[in-house]
Amino acid sequence: MLILRCPAQLQLLEETLRKSLPTTLPVTATPRIPLSPLPCPAGDNDLIVQVLGTVMTVARGNPASHEVLVDSWPHFSIVLTRLRPEDHRDPRDYYSNQLSVFYRDKGALQALLEGTEAVTQERAFQILGMQDGLDEAVQEVASARGLKVEMIRYRALMSPEPPQPRRQMPPGLRLAPVSPSHVPLLNATWAQGGNARSRAFLLGLVRTLPSACLLGPRGRPVSWSLLDGQGCLRHGYTVPTWRGRGLSGLPLALLGRELHARGFPIYCSVLPQNTASLHALQAVGFVPQPGTFYMILGTPK
Ligand SMILES: CC(C)(COP(=O)(O)OP(=O)(O)OC[C@H]1O[C@@H](n2cnc3c(N)ncnc32)[C@H](O)[C@@H]1OP(=O)(O)O)[C@@H](O)C(=O)NCCC(=O)NCCS
Repeated sequence: MLILRCPAQLQLLEETLRKSLPTTLPVTATPRIPLSPLPCPAGDNDLIVQVLGTVMTVARGNPASHEVLVDSWPHFSIVLTRLRPEDHRDPRDYYSNQLSVFYRDKGALQALLEGTEAVTQERAFQILGMQDGLDEAVQEVASARGLKVEMIRYRALMSPEPPQPRRQMPPGLRLAPVSPSHVPLLNATWAQGGNARSRAFLLGLVRTLPSACLLGPRGRPVSWSLLDGQGCLRHGYTVPTWRGRGLSGLPLALLGRELHARGFPIYCSVLPQNTASLHALQAVGFVPQPGTFYMILGTPK
């Protein structure tokens, strides 16, 4: 695999990937999405959003220390993005070792997985992607290499325009970036967090990437949203006593405007059974995408 370091290469890759983005998302009155079963297969256009988000982040100062690899250049069959190996300090940390992959044929994925660029026995990882076959292929290789594998299936949602909050800013609240001092609260309330590795990961996001929160009357965050190194909106949360007032749309709208202004896709992933989040997102303009957004976690046993 070749690492793309040159700005011109990254720009060309970005343009190529961008051409595959959906250009005609339905923007009007989307019916609320069914909660089950899982959606139909994704179309070709829906699959590249994590890779595009990472390539764009790498090309704009690379705050998350990722790198972009292709099997050949300029004609590639597969793109892999991953944390730079020199920044992977803890072999059991799958939070920060975030990979994304886009392939044009399954042979290219198989060839990638036979090597050690994506999955090695010694290193925890999380791979994100939406292509059919990714889940089985990664699971098979990771299990064969002795890793414990967990698969989480999400729905992907995209907002074709900056999200429009469904309510105005209530008196006494104000928008601000998330501060490192808020990280213990974010970590304690994150369903997949609550440990030292997740805290370090969140701190890294808050320090290096855009984030937004609503501060309550006593200066404590009541609702927030972060961005990760793949340009994905993550960690949306409203503290229970403030839920159901349309507040989650306010930090989302702020981040969405920033993403839109910089040409980034506006997207996120949600568990299919998380009705509150699916309703909140659709109410501010997100559109559910077909297909499954896979998160495959591997950890050394
Ligand atoms: C998802 C979440 C961020 C929504 O935040 P919010 O500020 O309550 O958002 P909204 O006020 O726009 O409400 C969204 C939906 O929550 C549900 N809801 C309404 N009142 C609620 C309450 N008091 N408590 C819980 N959920 C409520 C409703 O389904 C509502 O949608 P509807 O008004 O269209 O019926 C919040 O519920 C939360 O923090 N959940 C736990 C963490 C989580 O799931 N995060 C998202 C990860 S993808």
